[in-house]
Amino acid sequence: MTINIEPIHLERPNFAGLLSGVSVANGISKEDATEIEDGMNHFAVLVLRNQQITDDQQCAFSEYFGPLEQATGDLDQSATRRLSMKVNDISNLDENGAVMAIDDRRSLFSLGNRLWHSDSSFKQTPAKYSLLSARDIPASGGITQFADMRAAWDALAPEMQVECMDKICDHSQLYSRGLLGFAEWTDAEIAFNQPVPQRLVRRHAGSGRLSLYLSAHAGAIDGQPMPEARIFLRELNEHATQHQFIYSHEWQPNDLVIWDNRATMHRATRYDSEEVRDLHRTTVTDSAPTLQQPV
Ligand code: OGA
Ligand code: MN
Repeated sequence: MTINIEPIHLERPNFAGLLSGVSVANGISKEDATEIEDGMNHFAVLVLRNQQITDDQQCAFSEYFGPLEQATGDLDQSATRRLSMKVNDISNLDENGAVMAIDDRRSLFSLGNRLWHSDSSFKQTPAKYSLLSARDIPASGGITQFADMRAAWDALAPEMQVECMDKICDHSQLYSRGLLGFAEWTDAEIAFNQPVPQRLVRRHAGSGRLSLYLSAHAGAIDGQPMPEARIFLRELNEHATQHQFIYSHEWQPNDLVIWDNRATMHRATRYDSEEVRDLHRTTVTDSAPTLQQPV
């Protein structure tokens, strides 16, 4: 099979590509994986249509791009997990496959996905790629939006670029959920979610381009008073999520979307919470904490 990648929007020829010529269920060759990774380095978001896959097939495909993260980003769900520890449950379903009530603690926590973020930026070594497979999607709404953090960096005023360059932000789910007023943490969860430092500006390894590393999990900047840090991050987020930087993905069943968390942010949008929305995410871990990566 020959792999082909076309830009989805001609106005954003370097962001979001439609990839064809791959069957995730049948597996890929090493050469295919290299071609896909080259495409990811250019586009940062790739869409594959009509991929009806199992979790095992999704994991096997994802592992071509690096080791998988354990799905430990959620609330402690050891008793009620639906999926294996290699698969993040991006659904509104409980362990019996029933739609959860909106006031279920897990539903409230998952509203954090509606804030612009980069996956696992709250982990010491954050995520490289996320691969999200649409198993069951609502009739309308629940699209996923992606923002191009390399383009956002390129478009920053030079004096803002200088200001950003050496900053180190602290990331924690306590910050992102704090934005929503979620406060029902156990002591163990608070201990587990202590902030981790991440560079604000990263050099994207695969393209050599600079990128803003923003996320709803970023809630402080080293050496700055909290309000000054928060307003700075808010203004940067507003800049980086302007229309010209965004691709909005309208899901079809069996879509698989891959994004590079080192060069994008994403968020879910609202949908009827009584409808089923079931997506499965595998997450490829990055090579090292961002402070150990060269800029
Ligand atoms: C994710 C995520 C957004 C969505 O899977 O990491 O943030 O639209 N998903 O479900
Ligand atoms: Mn996410």
